[in-house]
Amino acid sequence: MINCRSAAELERLARVNALVARVLAELMGAVAPGTTTRALDRLAEQRLVEAGAAPAFKGYHGYPATICASVNEQVIHGIPNDRKLVEGDIVSIDMGARLDGFYGDSAVTVPVGRISPEAERLLAVTQAALERALAVVRAGARVHDIGAAVQQHVEAQGYSVVREFVGHGIGTSLHEEPQIPNYGTAGRGARLAEGMVLAIEPMVNAGKAAVKVLSDGWTAVTKDGSLSAHFEHTVAVTATGCRVLTLRDQAVAEAV
Ligand code: MF3
Ligand code: CO
Repeated sequence: MINCRSAAELERLARVNALVARVLAELMGAVAPGTTTRALDRLAEQRLVEAGAAPAFKGYHGYPATICASVNEQVIHGIPNDRKLVEGDIVSIDMGARLDGFYGDSAVTVPVGRISPEAERLLAVTQAALERALAVVRAGARVHDIGAAVQQHVEAQGYSVVREFVGHGIGTSLHEEPQIPNYGTAGRGARLAEGMVLAIEPMVNAGKAAVKVLSDGWTAVTKDGSLSAHFEHTVAVTATGCRVLTLRDQAVAEAV
């Protein structure tokens, strides 16, 4: 069953997701050569706790940290550590939070200093793929319209969509129905309805689609060593489109 949230529930989801967006914006600003992903993780946890929220990933199936920080060929679920980021790296930061019983989830891939034109293009294409996915969301659309939009854009640019990990419904649990693959056939899958809340998260590899999980049991990397990017927004389905609950501009606007 896919949950449809009441107006009151949507406001609670809006609050936790705005918090996630605001903290993610601060983390983006803290990314620089010499910074460690552990420092980003500490900052993230501190900000969530200050706001009365809890990290959503920490303890989830034993995951040990507040954020996932995935560098270069790491696709997702990179565990924060003391390795210093260096100019030219890209780092995907994924963060989830729980506040007042509801969950928020968002991710962004950030350049560390100046990066190669190829890395710039990967970030732009992945972000555009997420935007194209959001553009097809509305009551009456189908779940696989989302993946079809992502896949079409990514493959037209010569990149690959990761198949092993998917987006998801989100609400009073971090992961709810439906699963939202980043590939598929438009017109297929469950019909979207007003009040559904979805975390849409394309993961895009510059090279081939295949990934493997490292021996830490978490870090997913591209098999061919190519760069990978990840952008994620949590959105609420409306009659005519969607409300992006993790919009960072709005989060910054509300924060000042
Ligand atoms: N955004 C990812 C997801 O929705 C991150 C989960 S990390 C985990 O699955 F640690 F919680 F697994
Ligand atoms: Co997610």
